[in-house]
Amino acid sequence: MNSEEFKKMAAQSAMEKLQGRKIVGIGTGSTVKYLIDEIGADHLRFQNTLFVPTSNDSEKKLIQHGLKVTHEFSGFIDITIDGCDEIDPDGRLIKGGGGALTREKMVAYNSREVVIIADSTKSVDKLGDFGVPVEILPFLWRNTIERLNEFCRTEIKGDPESKTDNGNLVAMVRTGKMNDPEKVFNFIKNIPGVVEVGIFLNLTNSSIICGRDGCSFKDYPLNKR
Ligand code: 5RP
Repeated sequence: MNSEEFKKMAAQSAMEKLQGRKIVGIGTGSTVKYLIDEIGADHLRFQNTLFVPTSNDSEKKLIQHGLKVTHEFSGFIDITIDGCDEIDPDGRLIKGGGGALTREKMVAYNSREVVIIADSTKSVDKLGDFGVPVEILPFLWRNTIERLNEFCRTEIKGDPESKTDNGNLVAMVRTGKMNDPEKVFNFIKNIPGVVEVGIFLNLTNSSIICGRDGCSFKDYPLNKR
């Protein structure tokens, strides 16, 4: 079995979490794509469910399956299921490899429950080897990159012409393994021009990580909101 099959196993295992949920946040990426396919295959069961997508890509896929999506409502999302680029033993995450980190963080923050699905390559002891994706405004973007570079080696992710769904750019800050992700988060978040930082703290309620030894289900009780 390969990592694609493990992503699919994690997505399939997450399906039971959707039982009885009315408003569901849907993340972005290849792992979540498997989840959307599973939901789509059972779309009659989800006729009364409202989905809050974290990207135009996930939104398009949900609509293709005939599911209802919204960007606007008040109150809380019942549950959000999303992938990650890295997850540490406390459920802290690096996200944004797919450029959707700002909407992903907003959706997670406004959810009563957040479940992370991933293959076991995403599981790390310390966050940071992936780099930290940071969404930045196009205005004075070279200056923002320079300020980030003074802190840690930073480059623009991909083509500077390609924009996020919010019309912004994504920078990659090459922190390497972080001893104190909260400190790094606070430092980067304080730089004007930074919209959001791909370090997700205290947001994960549980994870489903699948690999060669099967799937492991973990709760992070300290993150309960
Ligand atoms: C997108 C993300 C994704 O969740 C992350 O990049 C993981 O993607 P994949 O499931 O394709 O490995 O944060 O912004």
